[in-house]
Amino acid sequence: MRIGTSVSTKKLDEACVNEYKIPLILMMENAVISAIKHLDTNLYNKYVIVSGVGNNGGDGLGIARQLKAIEKEVKVFIVGNMEKITPCSKTNLEILKAMNIPYIVIDTKEKNINHLEQLEADIKNSNVLVDCIFGTGLEREIKGIFKYVIEIINKNKNLVYSIDMPSGINATTGEVLGVCIKADKTICFEFYKRGFLKYETKKYIGNVVVEHIGIPEYILKKHDDNEYITSMNFVKDNIRDKNKFSFKSDFGKVTIFAGSKGFSGAAFIASEAAIKSGSGLVTLVCDEHIQDIISSKLSEGMTANYKEEDRINELIKTSNAIGFGCGMGNNKTTLERLQYVLNNSDCPLIIDADGINVLKNNISILKKYKNKIIITPHLGEMSRLTGKSISYIKENRIDVAKEFAKKNNIIVLLKGYETIITDGKDAFINPTGNSAMANGGMGDCLLGMITSFVGQGIELFEAVICATYIHGYIGDILSKKMYTVNATNIIEKIPVIMKEFNI
Ligand code: APR
Repeated sequence: MRIGTSVSTKKLDEACVNEYKIPLILMMENAVISAIKHLDTNLYNKYVIVSGVGNNGGDGLGIARQLKAIEKEVKVFIVGNMEKITPCSKTNLEILKAMNIPYIVIDTKEKNINHLEQLEADIKNSNVLVDCIFGTGLEREIKGIFKYVIEIINKNKNLVYSIDMPSGINATTGEVLGVCIKADKTICFEFYKRGFLKYETKKYIGNVVVEHIGIPEYILKKHDDNEYITSMNFVKDNIRDKNKFSFKSDFGKVTIFAGSKGFSGAAFIASEAAIKSGSGLVTLVCDEHIQDIISSKLSEGMTANYKEEDRINELIKTSNAIGFGCGMGNNKTTLERLQYVLNNSDCPLIIDADGINVLKNNISILKKYKNKIIITPHLGEMSRLTGKSISYIKENRIDVAKEFAKKNNIIVLLKGYETIITDGKDAFINPTGNSAMANGGMGDCLLGMITSFVGQGIELFEAVICATYIHGYIGDILSKKMYTVNATNIIEKIPVIMKEFNI
């Protein structure tokens, strides 16, 4: 699913009209027909449409006509300066008039008290309010009559469905411009709006559906912003098949550096997650006393301790992927071990937790590495790495992650609600996962899964995206029946879900 801003939406519209000769009114009608599918016309009969005078308003007028065509009761309100009505909206208004669909104009230039009372009464007498006041063209603080109208709509308990955007959100930044419709559902066209990623907007957008309006894929690809929400199909397409001639060596040999005193769980979880994700061979490298604790638990995995220098040397030279950092301690020894791996290995390296912490003021050590590096910070770790505040990172997640990835030529996975994965050019937002998973060990589990997927030979960027999606997806399934979902619950379910994705 593509993510877009008001700028990309405008550019796409212009390209369709000017380059590909698709009249705007045709795209508007496609949008109208797409929107109708989501207005639950099998359940409801009475609709109030509130339109602005821009093209979002035009969508609303078309929707009114199509609802009337299937014999729904429709009442339309048009809010704004009628002198500014766009040509497509005007065309739809002419049709509305000819079809005798009732409408009331709440003109910004007039006193509209009676109209506002009428709006309130009509909302009360209807099932669904369709909000088409502002879409991607909203550009300044909402005031005056618009504000009153939005407040009246929010005050009522009716279902509110917003077309393309809830009126009041800046499509690009997510900023609420004074006041905003609280939608139960938002039906967007072609792009999930970037502004919806801002945490504060979540309470306005309700359930979001993204609908196609007939723009060919290659045109969309040419005009999108390289920002996407991971889809299940993307994951299914990238998971490796296990054909009948496969050997364990075909599924990768991975090494995990993890654990320290008091953190044996991290080492176990990361290694076990790699095993269950399908790696051919998994070896955990850890301290000797951790090895003693874990060896008997990790039935299908191998272990090595730091005293076995030759073995470690061999492991890091022959692995298909290395995971590094969970529960290792934020200290000099961890930094030295990371440097050792960087100097002696040349396979993809996934760095998490203390592996990231020791990079503070040392990020340059990654520069000379002979293969690709993936770092998986949460907001706190990203804050320590970049020196930027957590609140700043939270509000600018995509840009911060992209910038850091680009600057250091690495893949960044920025954890949190809607985890971001970026190589500096493309960014994928992960839609799975939930707060029942917010507990110790989850990140270790993710590191194990990513390391395994990379080791199995899935393209690097795709491997990170897929592992993250599946990790959250399992959490989502389990959280329907479990108050808390722990890493061991996730691990247990990985093979089952991977099979489901691999059919
Ligand atoms: N207060 C009052 N009027 C405003 C404000 C504001 N705060 N902000 C913008 N406007 C006016 C603009 O001057 C313009 O007349 O609203 C109109 C723009 O409204 P939109 O319908 O959001 O923008 P437009 O570019 O016409 O249409 C984009 O069309 O493709 C459809 O639904 C899709 O969201 C998309 C929309």
